[in-house]
Amino acid sequence: SGAPRPRVTFLGTGYLGATYAICYAELGYEVLGFDVDADKIAKLNAGEVPIHEPGLDELLRRNLAAGRLRFSTDIAETAAFGDVHFICVGTPQRADGMGADLSYVEASVTALAQQLTRKALIVGKSTVPVGTAEWVEQLVGKHTPDDLGVEVAWSPEFLQEGFAVDDVLRPNRIVVGVKSEWANAMLYAAHKGVFDLAATEDREVPLVVTDFATAELVKVAANAFLATKISFINAMAEVCEASGGDVTQLARAIGYDPRIGNRFLQAGLGFGGACLPKDIRAFQARAQELGAGEALRFLHEVDLINLRRRTRVLQLAADLLGRRSGPAGPDFSGTRIAVLGATFKPNTDDVRDAPALAVAALLAKAGADVHVYDPQGTENARRIAPELCYEASINDAVSGADLVCVLTEWADFRNADPVVLGELAAGRKVVDGRNCLDATLWTQAGWEYRGMGRP
Ligand code: UGA
Repeated sequence: SGAPRPRVTFLGTGYLGATYAICYAELGYEVLGFDVDADKIAKLNAGEVPIHEPGLDELLRRNLAAGRLRFSTDIAETAAFGDVHFICVGTPQRADGMGADLSYVEASVTALAQQLTRKALIVGKSTVPVGTAEWVEQLVGKHTPDDLGVEVAWSPEFLQEGFAVDDVLRPNRIVVGVKSEWANAMLYAAHKGVFDLAATEDREVPLVVTDFATAELVKVAANAFLATKISFINAMAEVCEASGGDVTQLARAIGYDPRIGNRFLQAGLGFGGACLPKDIRAFQARAQELGAGEALRFLHEVDLINLRRRTRVLQLAADLLGRRSGPAGPDFSGTRIAVLGATFKPNTDDVRDAPALAVAALLAKAGADVHVYDPQGTENARRIAPELCYEASINDAVSGADLVCVLTEWADFRNADPVVLGELAAGRKVVDGRNCLDATLWTQAGWEYRGMGRP
């Protein structure tokens, strides 16, 4: 409040850009969202959120109505509107499977720079290989006259799907990579709404002001750490499986040490989604290019541990069904298997790189008649894995099944009644791929239960 706030634009209205644009309008900024996808822009202007994110619909409609928020496919209009332009386009995994594809960053920055007619700040938010900010700065220099003085900065984001609105409005830190006082002041003004909201709630949001490289690295380092934490506990699960230990109790016990902490220590089917798997691979590829590949070699192990959890579920399924494993893995032909869960985690409709869907596909490939149920992800799953059969309820999926595999920890599955399901199923055998069921309750209801990393 007080000082005038910059007008802000968000280029790319995917998951990241749409969420930011809407939340920034909610913080009181004048906002324009830009995308090349006319369909997406029309939907957003009509008050329709293209993604499933709790709370976002209401904020979109409220801020459209308040006139603070607009979406456009016109890059000249976008360039004219903004004092600060946030680049929020995707950086998918390259076709070679390792590095990041920066073609959307290049296209959006070039198009924007060519249309700028006054001084502005271009801020990268997309997850990128370290060194990209310098490259963007050169790109901007090439496409704007020197006397405009357009500057570049980097400010990574840490949104978690399902909590994205709160993560924008109430972030646990703000990181900015800047080269000048002007850019620093401009970015401070562009975050002022977040600091002001924190002040009214008697909180503080720590601000880390740093250089380009560090700002870029913070993002991938954070995701690499989270992935490593998950693979660490899954590695312990493997050792528990070999020794008769129980990884859930182990995790609880080590988690009481505040230096370790109890979050992100949930052993199970491992991490998926659009970020963690792709980010650790791109990070390794970039480190290799920089001659620092050795430093991140462990991330390769993190990846392998993570992928081995899928094989483990197949093994447990084969054990329960009495199927021998051949050289090509177990054969499930003639069995009907219910798969509960398709999304990469609960409370989202996102199935990108989802371990649940990957296992469902593997079971089907090995001959099983797979029936999938997911509370939100069916529509997206059908697009990626059309060969699977999708059901409209837990009961429909479980009816007649020889085996039930719970692969995403939706509350609906946790709360399902094993007695009722036991009457519907052909065989009372369950693999709990996320250790989310009450093993005692299921066992009492006559189910043969197998968890991950537990006896
Ligand atoms: C992740 C990070 O948590 C965000 O901070 C980051 O901003 C985001 O990636 C990104 O780079 O954009 P997200 O992909 O939404 O967020 O998902 P997470 O909640 O981190 O979960 C990732 C995966 O790890 C899920 O498949 C989840 O099932 C799995 N997981 C998580 C475990 O297997 N065990 C755990 O203990 C925690």
